[in-house]
Amino acid sequence: MSYKEVYKQSIESPETFWANVAEDVQWYKKWDKVLDDSNKPFYRWFAGGEMNSCYNALDYHVENGRADQLALVYDSPVTDSIKRFTYRELLDEVARFAGVLAGQGVEKGDRVILYMPMVPEAVIAMLACARIGAVHSVVFGGFAANELATRIDDAKPKAIVSASCGIEVTRVISYKPLLDKAIELAAYKPEKCIILQRPQLEATMVEGRDFGWAELMEKAEPADCVSLAATDPLYILYTSGTTGVPKGVVRDNGGHLVALKWSMKYIYGVEPGDVYWAASDVGWVVGHSYIVYAPLFHGCTTILYEGKPVGTPDPGAFWRVISDHGVNVLFTAPTAFRAIKREDPKGEYVGKYDLSKFRALFLAGERCDPDTLHWAEDQLKVSVIDHWWQTETGWPIGANFAGLEMFPVKPGSASLPVPGYNVQVLDEDHNEVSAGQIGAIVIKLPLPPGCLPTLWNNDEGYQNSYLRAFPGYYITADAGYKDTDGYLWIMSRTDDIINVAGHRLSTGAMEEVLAAHPDVAECAVIGVNDELKGEVPLGTVVLNAGVERDKDEIVKEVIKMVREKIGPVASFKIATVVKRLPKTRSGKILRGTMKKIADGVEYKMPATIDDPVILDEIAEDLAALGYPHK
Ligand code: COA
Ligand code: AMP
Repeated sequence: MSYKEVYKQSIESPETFWANVAEDVQWYKKWDKVLDDSNKPFYRWFAGGEMNSCYNALDYHVENGRADQLALVYDSPVTDSIKRFTYRELLDEVARFAGVLAGQGVEKGDRVILYMPMVPEAVIAMLACARIGAVHSVVFGGFAANELATRIDDAKPKAIVSASCGIEVTRVISYKPLLDKAIELAAYKPEKCIILQRPQLEATMVEGRDFGWAELMEKAEPADCVSLAATDPLYILYTSGTTGVPKGVVRDNGGHLVALKWSMKYIYGVEPGDVYWAASDVGWVVGHSYIVYAPLFHGCTTILYEGKPVGTPDPGAFWRVISDHGVNVLFTAPTAFRAIKREDPKGEYVGKYDLSKFRALFLAGERCDPDTLHWAEDQLKVSVIDHWWQTETGWPIGANFAGLEMFPVKPGSASLPVPGYNVQVLDEDHNEVSAGQIGAIVIKLPLPPGCLPTLWNNDEGYQNSYLRAFPGYYITADAGYKDTDGYLWIMSRTDDIINVAGHRLSTGAMEEVLAAHPDVAECAVIGVNDELKGEVPLGTVVLNAGVERDKDEIVKEVIKMVREKIGPVASFKIATVVKRLPKTRSGKILRGTMKKIADGVEYKMPATIDDPVILDEIAEDLAALGYPHK
């Protein structure tokens, strides 16, 4: 079938389409209804169906001829180690850790927070939760204690699984004090913590609450898969919203399994047995979907890489991994390629490795700038595909289709809507705009399987954030357009989210931190263009009247506060004190105009501006920081 036929069927007869796709995965009991729309706008896929995600990821393959095939390869240049797990070996570990969790009283429906570096135990813990029906919530290691505490309070985990440390290139980052601090800050107290002691650093344990991973594993009995409803939650993944309170995106079991397995074949063009590498982190949605679940659902070998694109040890790191493990398809963020290109512009490291098995590169997390796309194409001589998705959807919304039909790549575009997603571009009056016109990108309900059914314990927040502004549609919060060929061009966010090195961050959350400084009267954080990270945050603060302290000291303090409250991942390193902030007459801060000034983009004087002179002052302050860059 052609893409056009597949897409048409998925939109016009979604139940027939997805029922066929769902035949490709293993069910304990088939669904009663493919799409349950009895409680709109909450849609449920495969209602009445029963299955287990861990069974589909591991047991099924062990029982069907893949027991001795590699399931997981852990490649860690930062610890100079490589560890390989066959499907049988990974299943053994997972079943035993599932037994550990059960032994600690974790039951179906309980939440387990994982605060882990990129080690196999992170994957093992995720799958172990799935095995016994516990709901995992992985928190990225670059978040600070305060962010972890917020997630503990929202998810109320029975247990937390963590490690003594992470390793950032050469720096050993102690995780345990952050975990202890988070538990101290949180109102809700988890009963048990399971700590993986890494040889690089030993964590101090809290008697009666903390238990060692290795000791518990030694004594554990393996636990079997439990039968779960397709609509039962598999995980919660918190993502930045427009305030300091993150949104708990819920993923259910059945729809996720069906959609992810389909995507491996038709989007990524991957067959069972292939080697698939998502160079991301298990703390992000890319890590959940394409390091852990999808490659294993599909019987592939997945790579877990504890390293960076550069510096571990050089810009040839990615090519070394591709060559050593025979990677067929790589998925990463454009920022990783910008980092490599910056250190090895002529691609001299590429030629040192055997990339003969490598077929395609997929990029997402931010729009891939055409320069980076061309550089990757020229160096690697494989298809380079920019594709677009979000934590909320869990799998791509816009892509090219390596396993279905490849369309010409248009640099800067995320290509075509993925089957299942009825993507439309609407104006403020909710009418579809014509080709080439920018508007709000929305998806007509129902969303396909795999996308969030709601936010954790927050149906109201789900509707407010995603559904209310355009009734009948899911709001992506991205703006852009479709061209005359139907290609999607994702140009900007319509909210305060910025993308820093492919990491999604809320400037609103950073503003909340700055505003808490005792000398700050008001503030604005904007995302400014950055050659490496795409965007980085820049803070502007207005001081309270009468504050006479050294401004540089205050700037240092607010930078430190963001690092301590949100985490190093925010990359908040630039701030300045300004006299006043530009506002509309109704008092709205003109962040968009400030960003244009910082980026050196032409702007129209906003008609509603209160005092245009303030923009000149801001331009001077930004110029003193070196913006716009020449
Ligand atoms: N634990 C603790 N700290 C972490 C961390 C973790 N898991 N991950 C990142 N950090 C820290 C970094 O050490 C850095 O700290 P610093 O300010 O003290 O130097 C800070 O958080 C910012 O990290 P990052 O944005 O990753 O910047 P970087 O300079 O270390 O690396 C890149 C830049 C481009 C090489 C890196 O972002 C990268 O490899 N990106 C790849 C794509 C990716 O993972 N995308 C995710 C979604 S697909
Ligand atoms: P996250 O939830 O962290 O995956 O971030 C999702 C957001 O990243 C999207 O809403 C977009 O703003 C942006 N994004 C991700 N992939 C792309 C892409 N290929 N092109 C443009 N923007 C993207």
